[in-house]
Amino acid sequence: MAILVTGGAGFIGSHTCVALTQAGYEVIIVDNYYNSSPKSLARICELCGKDIPLYECDIRDRAGLDKIFKENKIEAVIHFAGLKAVGESCQKPIEYYDNNIGGTLTLCDVMRHNNCKNIVFSSSATVYGMHNVSPLKETMPAGGTTNPYGTTKYMIEIILEDIVKSDSDWNVTLLRYFNPIGAHKSGRIGENPNGIPNNLMPYITQVAIGKLPELSVFGDDYDTHDGTGVRDYIHVVDLAEGHVKALNNILEGKKGVQIFNLGTGHGYSVLDIVKAFEQASGRKVPYKIAPRRPGDIATCYSDPTKAKEVLGWEAKRGLEEMCEDSWRWQSMNPNGFED
Ligand code: NAD
Ligand code: WQD
Repeated sequence: MAILVTGGAGFIGSHTCVALTQAGYEVIIVDNYYNSSPKSLARICELCGKDIPLYECDIRDRAGLDKIFKENKIEAVIHFAGLKAVGESCQKPIEYYDNNIGGTLTLCDVMRHNNCKNIVFSSSATVYGMHNVSPLKETMPAGGTTNPYGTTKYMIEIILEDIVKSDSDWNVTLLRYFNPIGAHKSGRIGENPNGIPNNLMPYITQVAIGKLPELSVFGDDYDTHDGTGVRDYIHVVDLAEGHVKALNNILEGKKGVQIFNLGTGHGYSVLDIVKAFEQASGRKVPYKIAPRRPGDIATCYSDPTKAKEVLGWEAKRGLEEMCEDSWRWQSMNPNGFED
């Protein structure tokens, strides 16, 4: 029996494929390489020490997906495939709803027809919206999202919950990630953003390597310890291990819908991250204070207790390691996978 990983060539998916293989699972990837590259697959195989089959296919391609299920015995799906840029989603809402929601509906329909009803879904802390106060708990009301990307995650959570209500054979685990950074220790796989990065850590690493002149710190007048935004940064390998635990849990038997935060429970400000990164890398990160970014909130961090209690998972890697590993990846691969 195999685990199908949609979006497995991407940032979080690639690390999860390695963790799944190390845990003894047989992995099959489906990816259309929209935001990744075949070189990522080659490195996943290198780290796994074996060939990992990848179907180059869009998850909205029903016939293509069905063929994957017919050719393999798939026991569960870990579903990463989707578009993820918050700003872009405001410019291209149709593409975001089509890819994220349309893709998930097609995937679930093909799963149903092939009697595979176990799915772990990549949700996001963004579903907690603007109004809940950190530490964020799974019992807090979701919704109130502020951009089409976040709304796709919220809507997909509801769709998956409705599927379980309609057919109790389904097991759905919704994993709400906080801010994934870091990279595999080997420096062989990591985050490879297209164009100018939107997220803080890839922006910092590109400043440190000289590809970008300076970081803009979006606001220094928030109600936080130093005025800059506070987030819950989590090492991507911890996140990957969280998926293995979530999968073990789902495959143990009837679970229905389960929701888990995957975060560390610690909040760090933008300037905390700059300082920690400078220490870990030995590089200066020039920055200027810029206006607040629309849609940002002051503080967002998790209460990760439930994942520890139910899944036996907790993040093990601290900020120093996250910064070291982000820097190793960037410095060994100045142009990502394009070298
Ligand atoms: P990523 O862009 O690196 O990976 C997504 C992968 O999905 C890419 O390889 C892309 O080519 C593939 N893909 C996209 N649309 C597809 C389609 N229609 N068919 C087949 N493949 C498709 O992103 P990531 O950072 O690894 O994120 C993975 C998942 O986690 C996404 O669903 C994202 O929304 C979610 N998430 C990410 C973050 C984050 O900060 N990185 C935070 C919370 C949630
Ligand atoms: C972190 C902090 C910025 C860039 C986003 C999505 C969320 C999830 C994770 C997918 C904030 C500040 C950033 C820069 C800065 N993704 N910043 N200068 O916004 O917490 O979360 O990614 O689900 O849904 O919204 O992450 O890395 O963009 O920002 O000052 O150039 O860094 O204002 O305080 P965010 P981020």
